[in-house]
Amino acid sequence: MHRLLVTGGAGFIGSNFVHHLMAHTDAHVTVLDKLTYAASRESLAGLPADRVELVVGDIADAGVVEPLVAVHDAVVHFAAESHNDNSLDDPAPFIRTNLVGTFTILEAVRKAGTRLHHVSTDEVYGDLELDDPQRFTEATPYNPSSPYSASKAGSDHLVRAWVRSFGVHATISNCSNNYGPWQHIEKFIPRQITNVIDGGRPKLYGAGLNVRDWIHADDHSSAVWTILNEGRAGETYLVGADGEQNNLDVVQMILRHFGLPEDDFEHVTDRAGHDLRYAIDSTKLRSELGWQPAYGDFEAGLADTIEWYREHQDWWRPHKQATEASYAAKGQ
Ligand code: NAD
Ligand code: DAU
Repeated sequence: MHRLLVTGGAGFIGSNFVHHLMAHTDAHVTVLDKLTYAASRESLAGLPADRVELVVGDIADAGVVEPLVAVHDAVVHFAAESHNDNSLDDPAPFIRTNLVGTFTILEAVRKAGTRLHHVSTDEVYGDLELDDPQRFTEATPYNPSSPYSASKAGSDHLVRAWVRSFGVHATISNCSNNYGPWQHIEKFIPRQITNVIDGGRPKLYGAGLNVRDWIHADDHSSAVWTILNEGRAGETYLVGADGEQNNLDVVQMILRHFGLPEDDFEHVTDRAGHDLRYAIDSTKLRSELGWQPAYGDFEAGLADTIEWYREHQDWWRPHKQATEASYAAKGQ
């Protein structure tokens, strides 16, 4: 595992993983990233130039992917179109990147015999009722709701088929909602933080009772590294940190942090097909591979994240107006 190809390594979680590798391993990394609207070169700034190289290219382009895969020990595949709301507006890039892109990676690792870790989402399992005592496990049937989650479910099925039919040496992880620095301001937590910094109000879809199971991106990175090294080929591991919160509670934590009244938010048009609740049982990853999250206190991790967005206004401010205009056009 000395030379790693990290797809989507200029995105929110992929860049966190590259930082994790620089801090905790001696690996050399090639980032393959198309630099879509969601990418950020700044998230990779300051990393050692003799250990990290950025190749700008499309994972759906076999001419780019195959020669790169052939000269690496493993591929860690983060690249995706990642935002549910965008997939409702235009599913086409989700099909191309998440399905055709993953197919292209699979064909390349099949030809080269390279180890693959495929990064996926808990959304492939659909949603849970608020009072359901069950959480998602590796045995939960697939039941995706949105074009995004269906495209990720399809990508998981492709990986499973390439393992079974061609003996590709791959693992899959399905993680819950990540938070932390460098997350695009279209996403829930950074959108609300930056709204408040800008003097606006947080915007809650519907009643705000939908539940997400939050995990810090640093913990996701440590889980992926553990699975890459210790995971059994062909296996799926669920990644979560017991961080269930409903959206209303998260908004109120943000408002409290800024010293604002807890009712200083707006209800806006709900997301079509909005999944009610996600919840991860990560027993397999913890008991078989010994992984543990480092962040136990969501509100403390959220407070650090709020401070990070306060200190990095130069990074997000150029994108704020267009992001909000696009939401406003949908009544969100
Ligand atoms: P992101 O949108 O922040 O970053 C995605 C990155 O992929 C960007 O840098 C983008 O430029 C790149 N990319 C997109 N299309 C590409 C293409 N065709 N070729 C090459 N690069 C391309 O996403 P994220 O939130 O960092 O998510 C990373 C992965 O983790 C995704 O696979 C996502 O499904 C998964 N995941 C995300 C979360 C979460 O809460 N954000 C949770 C679980 C799983
Ligand atoms: O569960 C893992 C998934 O988490 C990942 O696979 C996705 O890539 C990632 O984007 C995330 O998906 P969600 O749809 O859960 O995340 P999002 O940040 O878009 O929304 C989180 C919750 O907040 C969801 O219930 C919708 C709600 N929401 C979102 C926005 C942007 C609001 O109430 N207001 C908002 O303005």
